[in-house]
Amino acid sequence: MTALGVYEVELNGQVVGDQVLAPGWSSYEHRLRYETFDVSARLRPGANALGVRLAEGWYRGRLGFGGGRRELYGDRLGVLAQLEVVAADGTVTTVASDGSWRATAGPTTRSGIYDGEDHDARLERAGWSSPGFDDRGWDPVAVVERDRSTLVARTGPPVRRIERVAPVSIGASPSGRTIVDFGQNLVGRLSLSVEGPAGTTVTLRHAEILQDGELCTEILRAAEATDRYTLAGGGRETWEPRFTFHGFRYAEIDGWPGELTAADVEAVVCHSDMARTGWFECSHEGVNQLHRNVVWAMRGNFLDVPTDCPQRDERLGWTGDLAVFAPTAAFLYDTAGLLRSWLADLAAEQDEEQGVPLVVPNTMPDVWFPIAIWGDAAIAVPWAVHRSSGDLDLLRTQWPSMRRWIELPIRWAGADHLWMGRQLADWLDPAAPPENPAAGRTDPTLVGNAWFCRMLAVMAEVAGLLGETADAERYATIGQEARAAFLDEYVTPRGRLVSDSETAHALAIRFGLVPEGARRVRVEQRLVRLVRKAGHHITTGFAGTPVITDALCDAGAVDDAYALLLQEEPLSWLYPVTMGATTVWERWDGLRPDGTLHGGEMNSFNHYALGSVADWLHRSVAGLAPAEPGYRRIVVRPLPGPGLTSARARHDTPYGRAEVGWRIDADRFELDVVVPPNTEAEVWVPGSAEPVVVGSGTRTFTTAANVDQVAERSP
Ligand code: BGC
Repeated sequence: MTALGVYEVELNGQVVGDQVLAPGWSSYEHRLRYETFDVSARLRPGANALGVRLAEGWYRGRLGFGGGRRELYGDRLGVLAQLEVVAADGTVTTVASDGSWRATAGPTTRSGIYDGEDHDARLERAGWSSPGFDDRGWDPVAVVERDRSTLVARTGPPVRRIERVAPVSIGASPSGRTIVDFGQNLVGRLSLSVEGPAGTTVTLRHAEILQDGELCTEILRAAEATDRYTLAGGGRETWEPRFTFHGFRYAEIDGWPGELTAADVEAVVCHSDMARTGWFECSHEGVNQLHRNVVWAMRGNFLDVPTDCPQRDERLGWTGDLAVFAPTAAFLYDTAGLLRSWLADLAAEQDEEQGVPLVVPNTMPDVWFPIAIWGDAAIAVPWAVHRSSGDLDLLRTQWPSMRRWIELPIRWAGADHLWMGRQLADWLDPAAPPENPAAGRTDPTLVGNAWFCRMLAVMAEVAGLLGETADAERYATIGQEARAAFLDEYVTPRGRLVSDSETAHALAIRFGLVPEGARRVRVEQRLVRLVRKAGHHITTGFAGTPVITDALCDAGAVDDAYALLLQEEPLSWLYPVTMGATTVWERWDGLRPDGTLHGGEMNSFNHYALGSVADWLHRSVAGLAPAEPGYRRIVVRPLPGPGLTSARARHDTPYGRAEVGWRIDADRFELDVVVPPNTEAEVWVPGSAEPVVVGSGTRTFTTAANVDQVAERSP
């Protein structure tokens, strides 16, 4: 079963499957995914009936900001269904969608991903998908031609209803509107249970935040995010929109017949049904909330396609956002199936000259040029999945795409080995003007070339893993030349970056762009100085944020990394937490301390990119990381620092559960480690110069030697 559009299928009057918004969103022109369902138990002797509800979804609805575009993939909706009945004697009967089917307009009178859904229950036709229904008044269908070689099976989990959230409060806004608060910024839609006279229309509007007690819809830009349900009357009715989703914590409900109570409405959280694989907790409640916010930001933005945000007129597969967040994502959830599909779309849409689209699936064929980090998703994302899953096949499948991408900056860089193209750079560096988030403190080409060097190193490593020896050598050589060019262009002989920013210094340290020695030490010292000068407030955007804490640790300034993490004043990771955030914000100061909005056009309250710090929480604060792809060998290297007295991370590796926990108890530092079967771990007990290598099992390490030093750092 699949559709041009989004569908829900019924057999003999009952919905088949629990998929939401099937067949999801892919680069439909190249890859249209189908679902298979076992419906044996639903079939009955004699007549059976198949019925499909169909809506525009991503296929024909409006997509993109600035007005966006409709009919991106086509102007006709369609259904492709095939029911195969295997009789006891083995004979197969196939019933397939064809020109004999009939169609009519249904009770859903309006439906859009951004704008929401209208449903008039008075237009429901009882028994419409059951045998015996009289469809003579319905229209004939047209048969649409479609290249069937584009049909593919899905590799990842479908979108499902994952959780139901009850209101925490229902109240009146200053202007007298009814506002329901779910206590959590989430993605999905409302489910209603309502009773009232026929023809009553209940209107549901959604938003992530309130301003002056009223629903704040301006940050949704041109997304209406409004659902309307018109009652059929005559008893209790339940309804949930089928073909839309919203990003919201608050809903404004108008037109409710009678008194609205908490039992009448629920939020239904929808996202790709990935298995949860990673957990983190520590002694600091603010950091725990930050981590929960990262998890919720991921849940909100993994609705079939990894998106930038789930609420405004965007919700697009921005490649750069995922390039920086992929390591975190791959720790928290099993992303392998979902990202395999997304990467297949990326490869299908990639272009020799323009590179990787800025968004996949590509909704902006007119705005498209090669760009670091964003285009680098072609390499960074399969690499992150491989690091956590150990799956070499994904790398093999993506290898042509990875090569095609890197060859483009290589060509652009030419004999100088410097890529001087346009960049989005350290996107959303808080110093950038609101209307130009790419114009931060760090030279955009510096950011681009740092990533270029890093990606060349990854390419050389991947080529080695795949046995592509010529390529391994090629990328290693070009990598060396690119690093030399980077040093020449951006690092002073004594050891400063030409952009005197934390991002520039952190990238140079973290990506190994300055060789060991006095020059490197000065770069490290400069980073520490910049971080202290900024009073341990954040100065980084998309490029600097994933590396800043690691770079500080590499520089031996673990305490400064902790000071940055635990900062609560704006701008910081914990500032949104102090403002009641329940997801990661797009901007460090999306809401100002006085509760007013940041003035910029882009102000999402559910954006995972800046949550990439969670990767460091897992690897370095708790101390659990893969030493080899797939965690066949694990590195346990916690870096305790001031402000935390314990931390713990768990990850379901392909071999089983791995766990690391440490605590400072009076004068003891205690570390416990669970190593899964058939793996081993190098355990670096803080303070010791050498790791201990241990096999599978549970172990506890206590250090006495290090106690004073560690205890001294705790609050
Ligand atoms: C998106 C970002 C994205 C950026 C790049 C924004 O509108 O929300 O997350 O990466 O554009 O231009």
